[in-house]
Amino acid sequence: MALFEARGLHKRFGDRVVLEAIDLAFDAGTLTGIMGPNGAGKTTCFHCLTGYHRPDRGRIVFDGEDIGGLRPHEIVRRGVARSFQAINLFDADTVLDNVVVALPEVRRRVADAWGDLARDSGAQDRAAEVLARVGLAGRERARAKDLAYGERRALEIALALASGPRILFLDEPTSGLGADGTARLGELVSELKRTLTMVVIEHDMRFLFGLADTIAVIHWGQVIAGGTPRELRDNPWVARSALAEDPC
Ligand SMILES: Nc1ncnc2c1ncn2[C@@H]1O[C@H](COP(=O)(O)OP(=O)(O)OP(=O)(O)O)[C@@H](O)[C@H]1O
Ligand SMILES: [Mg+2]
Repeated sequence: MALFEARGLHKRFGDRVVLEAIDLAFDAGTLTGIMGPNGAGKTTCFHCLTGYHRPDRGRIVFDGEDIGGLRPHEIVRRGVARSFQAINLFDADTVLDNVVVALPEVRRRVADAWGDLARDSGAQDRAAEVLARVGLAGRERARAKDLAYGERRALEIALALASGPRILFLDEPTSGLGADGTARLGELVSELKRTLTMVVIEHDMRFLFGLADTIAVIHWGQVIAGGTPRELRDNPWVARSALAEDPC
């Protein structure tokens, strides 16, 4: 049985149907790529899977439990984490503090004074470990707003990792990164893939085809194709977008 599964997800905004009937299954230990044109419903699908949108119909099952209808923080607590398409950080705080407040033991103690939490050396050590995992060791005391763009993307992933997830959803992690940043992110994702189940929305096909075990193509609110990168190379929609992206 898949670790995470969605069946018949349907989502409309007013009379606009964005997700018709999405079926997806993510096996433990795999990296699934999600592709599709702009406006296809990929982010809306992630919002539904992680509790930010309530689907109008459909079932979402994580590790045998129906998590449809749970709030985002309840879903995080079960081991599901995500990043967002637009970067979402506390800019005025340090890199370390951004991660400290994302740690589950700290989130549970919201009633405590923030100053006590920030001085909690155990939490700081755990946050520093998470930062080291994403290549931000040595940047703990920098303000989030002073990070380079690629470092901000890495910090976002650190925030998601701080909750100790079993499955991690990334929404266009290479967006805005140049060739070097994308290569570094590729190394980070392959490292994370060793211990986590991952689902990654990406427009950068070279990045995705190099990392994914399987790929699902979302178009017109449905999964129109799925398979290994090798199987999908012959798919007409994938071939067309590859040509559009890489004219040589
Ligand atoms: N809260 C909302 N209210 C109304 N329409 C919405 C809402 N959120 C998304 N949509 C619409 O749903 C459609 C799918 O949007 P979504 O952001 O899921 O696409 P996407 O596949 O992630 O696109 P992109 O590749 O550009 O990020 C779009 O037409 C968008 O305008
Ligand atoms: Mg999107």
